Amino acid sequence: MFVELERLAMRREPVPAVVRAEPRPERTVLVRVFRGGTGVSAPRMVAYPVPVHKGMTVLDALLWIKEHADPTLAFRSSCRMGICGSCGMLIRGEARLACETQVATLGTEVIEVVGSGLGVSDGVDDPVTT
Ligand code: FES
Repeated sequence: MFVELERLAMRREPVPAVVRAEPRPERTVLVRVFRGGTGVSAPRMVAYPVPVHKGMTVLDALLWIKEHADPTLAFRSSCRMGICGSCGMLIRGEARLACETQVATLGTEVIEVVGSGLGVSDGVDDPVTT
């Protein structure tokens, strides 16, 4: 790949954009996210159907929701390697790291995710209208 890019650069041809293939979804899981309770909106559970693929983590599922279903969803994450701890949240009632918890290992079609200030925050949903 590097040699190919170098060859294109030498010939002064435009370097093609990298195309990332989306993994093929295997099934759909319902991710229920606890939202609200920050003073902006009432606390509630919101369910999102998410197409999951092999190796997908709960953090990947939340990122998918944010990108494809609900851009107002906010949560913390940083390293995506289980080091920083910023993605810690309650997943099916257990304190876990979202970036290390694979959806497949949970063995269920419904995943409940609750962040208590550190995980899923909700400061950006339901903007106040006047
Ligand atoms: S993002 Fe750092 S531990 Fe999950």
